[in-house]
Amino acid sequence: MALEIRTPQDQEWDAYYDLRYRVLREPLDQARGSERNDGDSAGIHFALYDNGTLKAVARLDCHDDTTAQVRFVAVESSEQGKGYGRLIMEATEQHAVKQGNTKMILHARDYAVDFYLTLDYTMIEPSHKLFGVLQHFLMEKSLV
Ligand SMILES: CC(C)(COP(=O)(O)OP(=O)(O)OC[C@H]1O[C@@H](n2cnc3c(N)ncnc32)[C@H](O)[C@@H]1OP(=O)(O)O)[C@@H](O)C(=O)NCCC(=O)NCCS
Repeated sequence: MALEIRTPQDQEWDAYYDLRYRVLREPLDQARGSERNDGDSAGIHFALYDNGTLKAVARLDCHDDTTAQVRFVAVESSEQGKGYGRLIMEATEQHAVKQGNTKMILHARDYAVDFYLTLDYTMIEPSHKLFGVLQHFLMEKSLV
């Protein structure tokens, strides 16, 4: 198995945003385009390829001087539960450590909270409801 986690290049961006859309926005009846936001220009983009096929995506943002935030974490629907989510999260955490962050935060969808608990994130508090319906929870993990 040839695994590669890196930033998409050139024509790979279409598949990157398409996966984000299909996994994170289409099930919520949102239009194409809703999978992107202004943070995409500054964020660091992670794409996991297994034998050249895109399986998972994530974006790493700077929250403040010490804290990074991971967003838009998604694994191809048919490929969930195979370890790709853990691998791409570990890659974002390693990158955050390298750039000097000591903490990672994220806003987890209610049904993803247990996944992040498995990865040693701690629940802090309920945060926003995405599109008024999908409850999110602020979670954090020390990187030191
Ligand atoms: C949530 C998501 C990113 C997890 O990725 P994944 O590849 O399916 O998860 P993995 O196979 O890497 O699982 C890693 C561990 O978490 C556990 N896990 C994964 N999803 C879980 C869940 N929903 N509930 C409980 N445990 C879960 C696995 O059992 C595994 O545990 P183990 O290592 O002890 O065996 C993925 O399922 C997904 O994209 N879901 C839909 C979109 C989404 O919710 N994104 C997150 C937005 S905050």
